[in-house]
Amino acid sequence: MTLRAVIAGSGSALPKRRVSNEQLAETVDTSDEWIVERTGIKFRHIADDNETTASLGTEAARSALAAAGIDAGEIDLIVLATSTPNQTFPASATIIQTNLGIGDCTAFDVQAVCSGFLYALSVADNMLRGGAAKTALVIGSETFSRILDWEDRGTCVLFGDGAGAVVLKAEEGDSGVLASKLHADGRHNQLLYVDGGPSTTGTVGKLRMRGREVFRHAVVNLVAVMNEALEAAGLTSDDVDWVIPHQANRRILDATARKLGLAEDKVIITVDEHANTSAASIPLALDTAVRDGRIKRGDLLVLEAMGGGFTWGASVVRY
Ligand code: UT7
Repeated sequence: MTLRAVIAGSGSALPKRRVSNEQLAETVDTSDEWIVERTGIKFRHIADDNETTASLGTEAARSALAAAGIDAGEIDLIVLATSTPNQTFPASATIIQTNLGIGDCTAFDVQAVCSGFLYALSVADNMLRGGAAKTALVIGSETFSRILDWEDRGTCVLFGDGAGAVVLKAEEGDSGVLASKLHADGRHNQLLYVDGGPSTTGTVGKLRMRGREVFRHAVVNLVAVMNEALEAAGLTSDDVDWVIPHQANRRILDATARKLGLAEDKVIITVDEHANTSAASIPLALDTAVRDGRIKRGDLLVLEAMGGGFTWGASVVRY
């Protein structure tokens, strides 16, 4: 028998405030028609002052623990994927640890922008299989609304806030994370970045993106890494029940599925309701489809993402 990191439960959390394209168009020079046609986005949730990356991450983690039927005291590893932590340090994972009343454990943040959840999942998977932990919380939580330039219509309409989480348990068997492949290519740093930081400007900065160029790289990289991860698991796209993509743009999701020869209805899509929530988008989409009954135990899932860096990756998971 093989020791694997099995998804014991999932959860998610969204800020209370839900903003439509029409509402945005009241203050930004844009339209519902443009946003829907170019991106598929209809709504996004925007955090109020009292809703933070740590508070949303805590809520998502609580809901994942409840779904898994696991007491917070059993958690011995917390990995939070985020690019919008509450503070530069300490890691927001430690704030979530305290909020959940978890005692001594390992807790840290991982920063790989939109691929962050896959990086966090892979780190936790390796730690569980290597024996460094037994029960992990892997969380993606973001408040990108805080780093958006609301004067830049090319970016501010695309993003939203939210959080998703999974509880991973080290268990013997055929279920769990079967393979992960991660990549980075820093030559593309300047296509998607934040123009501030503690070691440079001393400010938090705002998100900047050359969308068309990012789009061009996305489909090619995502198709390649999904095939690579499936091959590592000894599987092909014919074996896939559900693709759970990072939700950046409906057109990227459709083009990626087409190139893999996958039917559109095998792709979980939440970009219409959540917009791009960066590291939170995959666990948010996963939890949505688990709760609405589409994803069932035994299904083969492929999780995939690409984001700033560039970073990109894919994980193959038997749910
Ligand atoms: O999560 C990380 C990964 N990120 C991504 O994957 C994002 C990838 N990129 C994209 O999703 C798309 O490139 C965008 C949605 C960002 C943009 O779509 P596009 O079809 O590439 O549009 P564009 O940037 O080339 O802009 C086309 C036109 C421009 O006007 P002109 O120059 O043709 O007159 C823009 O000024 O659309 C205009 N435009 C807008 N119009 C109305 C740009 N933003 C808006 C807007 N509302 N919000």
